[in-house]
Amino acid sequence: MRRLFPVTDVTDETAVREWGLAELAAAYAHPGGGREPWLRANMVSTLDGAAQHDGRSQPLSHPADMRIFGVLRALADVVVVGAQTVRQEGYRPARARAEFAAAREAAGQGPAPVIAVVTASLDLDFSLPLFTSPLVPTLLLTGAAAAPDRVAAAEAAGARVVVAGEGTAVDPARAVRALADLGHTRLLTEGGPRLLGELIAAGVLDEICLTLAPILTAGDAQRIAGGPSVTLPRRFTLKSMLEEDGFLFTRYQRS
Ligand SMILES: NC(=O)c1ccc[n+]([C@@H]2O[C@H](COP(=O)([O-])OP(=O)(O)OC[C@H]3O[C@@H](n4cnc5c(N)ncnc54)[C@H](OP(=O)(O)O)[C@@H]3O)[C@@H](O)[C@H]2O)c1
Repeated sequence: MRRLFPVTDVTDETAVREWGLAELAAAYAHPGGGREPWLRANMVSTLDGAAQHDGRSQPLSHPADMRIFGVLRALADVVVVGAQTVRQEGYRPARARAEFAAAREAAGQGPAPVIAVVTASLDLDFSLPLFTSPLVPTLLLTGAAAAPDRVAAAEAAGARVVVAGEGTAVDPARAVRALADLGHTRLLTEGGPRLLGELIAAGVLDEICLTLAPILTAGDAQRIAGGPSVTLPRRFTLKSMLEEDGFLFTRYQRS
């Protein structure tokens, strides 16, 4: 891996070599953690804009992408994810990693990030380990009108239901506030595209860590964000770019 941006000189950072976890964690230090919540997204896209292949993002990934994925999780208080990604990608609970234990404790974080699933239907399999055996209870973000029997089933499995909207839909800004009220200010979303589109439209996304995979797939796969387009395009600023094996690991923040 090497750093392509920012670059002021040829340094050790720009040379191609293995980056350790601590170094990656420093490169991706979460700007959140203060009083204000900070919402970062982590997504991968092909050169031609596909966010998945055969319904999964794994074919677009790379070992270095998975290392960064793990580091971003290790830095987060909570991972916010859309229910369809949970269903399609078979989400499991986040694990505690010994390499990050001391840093998490020093930052006042639990051993692993909480997974928060955004769902209107609560149509999820509550017998899965994500709900029955996480280190920290999984959250379900839903609307006030969510089906009471599904809420009861979720709670019986051990999940915690957090209301963040009227009707059955979740209001993104309210979800961010609700998570912050629970002490989660270092927010990471892993999509999917429908959820990310809503977060963008609501103006709550502060940062995007986008992996550009040197892959072309053609076809009609979703882009990384869907839904109605915003009236005014949102401008982001490049903060850093790493490279390994032709994969670009970019980090952009709201301008
Ligand atoms: N390239 C990447 O980095 C990346 C990342 C993640 C996922 N993916 C891919 O993306 C695909 C899945 O993404 P997707 O866009 O179809 O779905 P998604 O965004 O993961 O999930 C959509 C679901 O989330 C819930 N949801 C979203 N917004 C909501 C709101 N405001 N209020 C209440 N519920 C809300 C709904 O769940 P209910 O249906 O339960 O009501 C909705 O059906 C998969 O193929 C996956 O592999 C790619």
